[in-house]
Amino acid sequence: MMRGSRSLSPNSPEGSISRAGYVFGIVTMARIGVSALHQLNGLFRRRQGRGLDAAFAVVMPGNFPPVGKSCRVAPDDPVLTAADTRLTEIAGIIDRGLVVPPGFSPLSSLIHMLSYGSFSRTVRSSDKAFSVSDACTSCGTCVKVCPVENLTMVKDRPSWLHHCECCCACLHFCPVEAIDLNVMQGTKGRGRYRHPDLKLEDMKAQRGNEP
Ligand SMILES: Cc1cc2nc3c(=O)[nH]c(=O)nc-3n(C[C@H](O)[C@H](O)[C@H](O)COP(=O)(O)O)c2cc1C
Ligand code: SF4
Ligand code: SF4
Repeated sequence: MMRGSRSLSPNSPEGSISRAGYVFGIVTMARIGVSALHQLNGLFRRRQGRGLDAAFAVVMPGNFPPVGKSCRVAPDDPVLTAADTRLTEIAGIIDRGLVVPPGFSPLSSLIHMLSYGSFSRTVRSSDKAFSVSDACTSCGTCVKVCPVENLTMVKDRPSWLHHCECCCACLHFCPVEAIDLNVMQGTKGRGRYRHPDLKLEDMKAQRGNEP
């Protein structure tokens, strides 16, 4: 987080956002995620009575191996370098307190319109498509990284509890690639992605507890 800033959510206690001088939101996306900024802006407006002063999208590597190309990403990948440059630019804009609307992407709006409803209705049980292979060492990492505590160990193997957000952290953090997601092209041999600066401790910290 930037110096002098704090995290806010649309669900923060009422009034907390009205005291904030400048409110900005940043989403990461593989290509077409601008509609998420509109959604975030709308949630703030409805629940806090005030939208974002500035909204930014940063392109990152794709992290959903069942679609597109494989997820292998080297630390010097040009997408990561471009993201660092973009973040420096965004920090400059925030320092100056500039107003930046979320922008408009027709493709993002169309995909949102066509798929978000069904995605949000089915996402919780999407974990039925995960499987775990005999490569599993019962290390428990997948359980620790899940942001919504949707995994538990049963007989030394992870078991999914069907309130999944489909973030794929369990898939990407398994040190032996024992977890697969069996939809579309599947995940076998399709690489795993984790931002090179992201540590297991960061994942645990975002959950706010220590399993
Ligand atoms: C369940 C899921 C949904 C996603 N939806 C979108 C999307 O709608 N648009 C998009 O551009 N990227 C989407 N992505 C891709 C990620 O936003 C992107 O790959 C991610 O930001 C990777 O980098 P990071 O985790 O280091 O930020 C999605 C990823 C997952 C796992
Ligand atoms: S880590 Fe993400 S994909 Fe895995 S169970 Fe938890 S919410 Fe679902
Ligand atoms: S992270 Fe991988 S090896 Fe560890 S318990 Fe989960 S599935 Fe098994």
